[in-house]
Amino acid sequence: MFGRTAIWIVLTVAFATLPMAVAQELPEGDGKKLIEERCAGCHSLKPVVSLKQSQAAWKELVVKMVGYGAQLDDQEAEVATGYLTKHFGPDASAKPETPEEKIAKQYIDGICSSCHDAGLIRSTQATRQGWLDIVTRMNGLDAGVSQRDVDILVDYLASRYGPNKD
Ligand code: HEC
Ligand code: HEC
Repeated sequence: MFGRTAIWIVLTVAFATLPMAVAQELPEGDGKKLIEERCAGCHSLKPVVSLKQSQAAWKELVVKMVGYGAQLDDQEAEVATGYLTKHFGPDASAKPETPEEKIAKQYIDGICSSCHDAGLIRSTQATRQGWLDIVTRMNGLDAGVSQRDVDILVDYLASRYGPNKD
């Protein structure tokens, strides 16, 4: 369904909107510039940053994009694949975790999940105040989150499972 003509149309349209496409923020690292320069010409970087996949899958994708006309030689394709795997790999821990995230995850995986599925947390959307109320209520059920960690946990929950902005 994606014939050559269609790709050229994508190309033409995309070049016209290039500055906008580049605006997508990428994490710092070896290969960032390469991705910004060579991958944002035909589409935004949104499909890139929303993927999490293995090195093999990234490699395959980069090869496919080169087939579409992305300008990368073999060595650049390798750098791009390495960068993408490091920052958008299957394993979220590829991104360094902050100490706060670590503490929050320990509570969620270790304590919160002992009474109910973590899916219940992920499917809940609440404001910071809403999460504070929930965590306070869970503490009433003996969740045992220390006073100091309540803030850390509530910040974490509100930043990931906040109210839907739509
Ligand atoms: C010459 C144009 C062009 C360039 C340059 C280009 N792409 Fe693409 N890309 C496309 C087209 C066309 C599609 C949609 C067709 C498809 O999905 O196979 C696409 C789709 C994608 C998708 C979504 C497809 C999926 O499997 O989810 C990702 C991710 C992607 N490109 C990443 C990249 C990366 C990374 C680079 C730089 C190495 C790049 N693209 C450079 C044309 C391009
Ligand atoms: C001792 C068992 C227990 C622990 C530990 C626990 N919960 Fe709960 N949780 C419950 C029960 C029982 C309910 C259902 C009753 C209720 O909503 O008060 C519930 C309900 C919830 C709900 C849905 C309620 C709503 O208002 O939407 C969320 C979200 C939640 N818990 C999050 C957490 C988090 C986050 C933690 C870790 C800080 C946690 N829970 C720890 C027992 C627990």
